[in-house]
Amino acid sequence: MFRFLRDHGIIERNLILMGVLTLITVSIGGLVQIVPLFTIETTIERVEGMRPYTPLELAGRDIYVREGCYTCHSQMVRPFRDEAERYGHYSLAAESMYDRPFQWGSKRSGPDLARLGGRYSDDWHAAHLRSPRAVVPESIMPPYAFLDRPLDYSDIGAKLKAQQALGVPYTDAMVANARADLEAQARPDADAAGFSGRYAKARQAAFDGNAGTITEMDALVAYLQMLGTLVQFRDVTPEQVRQQ
Ligand code: HEC
Repeated sequence: MFRFLRDHGIIERNLILMGVLTLITVSIGGLVQIVPLFTIETTIERVEGMRPYTPLELAGRDIYVREGCYTCHSQMVRPFRDEAERYGHYSLAAESMYDRPFQWGSKRSGPDLARLGGRYSDDWHAAHLRSPRAVVPESIMPPYAFLDRPLDYSDIGAKLKAQQALGVPYTDAMVANARADLEAQARPDADAAGFSGRYAKARQAAFDGNAGTITEMDALVAYLQMLGTLVQFRDVTPEQVRQQ
């Protein structure tokens, strides 16, 4: 009956045998996890509405990463009832497919931002970023008033090109017009026929409340206002979420 235990001692005393058998065991475990993935075409669900970031949003996203907003804010609504009721529909893999790196985050000192777009006005965002406690008295968020400085977008074409090389579906026209598109989005009175043709559902505005200079604030607010708005979830009620 205890033969197995005695033989097990042979393995435990033989380092090479132990190593080989461990490798075999781990390989089987790995195959079980990996092989099924080859039989499905994609692990990202197909959804309507996802498009690459506009040049202004992309610049805003870079500021978000640069300032470390992800250290306090997540961008992933988990598929739990309390989260769905607070933030909205849980996040889909497709919503992060053009994010390099993704901004899911691992800490929430502030609320999740995955469904932020359209929840507040541009003015609210600019005021809040300049001085969080001016609008939310109990806030512990640091102020970012310095973002009112001009945005350096001299390399925006190159940024789009880099994203294109990574597989983000920017067309050559998008890359060629990156500068013009960035300027068109930040200036509400600009002629933006080309811009809105290239980027669906992108809103033109003086995001920082000042149409003159294009600032880092413009870029960051444009990015925040887009979050969670590309795929239409607003019509989905928490009740439907639970049934899915
Ligand atoms: C030290 C942690 C911290 C950092 C860093 C931080 N935040 Fe916050 N943020 C908070 C907290 C706490 C709140 C909730 C109170 C409030 O609204 O100010 C908040 C709220 C927000 C809100 C309102 C969300 C809502 O649904 O009401 C936005 C938008 C936001 N932050 C954006 C940013 C951006 C953009 C950055 C980076 C430039 C940033 N935060 C950096 C802590 C932080």
